[in-house]
Amino acid sequence: MAGKRDSWSSRIGVIMAVAGSAIGLGNFLRFPAKAAANGGGAFMIPYFIAFLLLGIPLMWVEWTLGRYGGGFEHGTAPGIFHSIWKKNRFIKYFGVIGIFGPLVIFIYYVYIESWTLAYSFFSLTGKYSRLTDLAGMKSFLLGFQGIEKNAYFDGIATAYLFFLITFVINISVIYYGIKAGIEKLCKLAMPLLFFFALILMFRVISLGTPDISRPQWNIWNGFGFLWNADFSVLRSAKIWLEAAGQIFFTLSVGIGVILTYASYLSKGDDVVLSGLTAASTNGFAEVILGGSIIIPAAFVFFGPLDMQSIANSGVFNLGFVTMPIILNKFPFPALMGFCWFFLLFLAGITSSVSLAQPAVAFLEDEFSITRRKAVSIFGAITFLLCQPVIFYLSRGVVDELDFWGGTFFLVVFATIEVILFAWVFGMERAWDEIHKGADMSVPVIYKFIIKYITPLFLFFILAMWLKQEWLPIILMKNVSSASRPFVLGTRLALVFIFLLLSVLVKIAWSKRKAFRRGGR
Ligand code: ALA
Repeated sequence: MAGKRDSWSSRIGVIMAVAGSAIGLGNFLRFPAKAAANGGGAFMIPYFIAFLLLGIPLMWVEWTLGRYGGGFEHGTAPGIFHSIWKKNRFIKYFGVIGIFGPLVIFIYYVYIESWTLAYSFFSLTGKYSRLTDLAGMKSFLLGFQGIEKNAYFDGIATAYLFFLITFVINISVIYYGIKAGIEKLCKLAMPLLFFFALILMFRVISLGTPDISRPQWNIWNGFGFLWNADFSVLRSAKIWLEAAGQIFFTLSVGIGVILTYASYLSKGDDVVLSGLTAASTNGFAEVILGGSIIIPAAFVFFGPLDMQSIANSGVFNLGFVTMPIILNKFPFPALMGFCWFFLLFLAGITSSVSLAQPAVAFLEDEFSITRRKAVSIFGAITFLLCQPVIFYLSRGVVDELDFWGGTFFLVVFATIEVILFAWVFGMERAWDEIHKGADMSVPVIYKFIIKYITPLFLFFILAMWLKQEWLPIILMKNVSSASRPFVLGTRLALVFIFLLLSVLVKIAWSKRKAFRRGGR
């Protein structure tokens, strides 16, 4: 090891950091878009079921596995999986997903996060303040992204500048490490984030019926859209897949980041109450705050049909087109716009640093190099990998990265984790391990859920995916012919990254063996 492993300085610090990782763009952009596109209230039933049967159990599994692996000075899945199943030579390669997934998400996440910083600045300087319709705001976004040249932007330079600033802030936070970087950031950012979100939520609630010629478009019907359940749609597999996918993404489970964060805990630190607190804080931020801003506001100003079609047209349109138009209608539009975009920036950065940490921890733990070196390697590689995301945004690169890194592999990784935990480690031992230092007991029904229900649920999701979606995805059926070479290139790059990480695992373990043989 390159010196003693880093650690958290306080319990509140680790809870804030895990909650910070969980509360991200997923809560304020992805969730409202998914809920609106999947029928509002109908979506919330599979969503809550997935929270109880997948989210909560996996959260406990990851906290426990992470703390266990940290005891062997392993902060990432290859080492943690190996500590659990020493006899299996291949299991460490499955653990590669726990570094690959967050790395891939980081590559596009940090760029989108930089838009939120840019738009915070544009709000304050009034750059989009005169735009009052969706078409104008859409054009502003496309100009900013460098997709079209127009009156607002004549190239990608502004976006690139904000990307550089955001990237450097991320790298600097990781450079300072767990205690002095990530924990400090989250302790500052999380209260601020809640403050901005509450301001926006109360402002939206007080909208009432802004247009009396359309009395149906009132704020209570806006909330009703999210909360009136329709049981009939539950027969569709798609809604279950979407809801489960959102639970994974929002809680940051199945990614690998909680394993890494928990590896910096000490043996006797509680994981039960801390895990539950972080998950509940995320749930509050998503359903109460995230659910009370964009959807009801868009309902009131655009009505249910237009709101759903905007949501169907993509997550970015809701956040970067619809929302600024709405906020421009409020008193103090510059401040309201700043509240919205800076809230997104804080949510984003507390998540992106967590996505970076597994790769950095892997280099530090398994190659015994200093954090400084590990962060420099990580920074140089991810900087290069971000370039296609920036320059080929309109070519489907982000969607492709989000599908593999942010959706598919999460489910695969979670399935491996829960099986290892409940079946290889053994449920009785696992139950004892969860409760070491625990401040509360896990309800005993979760013994059954973790052993049977969660794995079965995950198999169901994978089977459904294989049945309904894999062929069109593999054959790029929904990708335009102009974008196909870019999507294919992205896939090849992903395969290359995965193989490279697997080779690194092999090298690290060979070195370890040689080290042990040398009797040192
Ligand atoms: N959990 C993070 C989010 O929701 C990745 O954005």
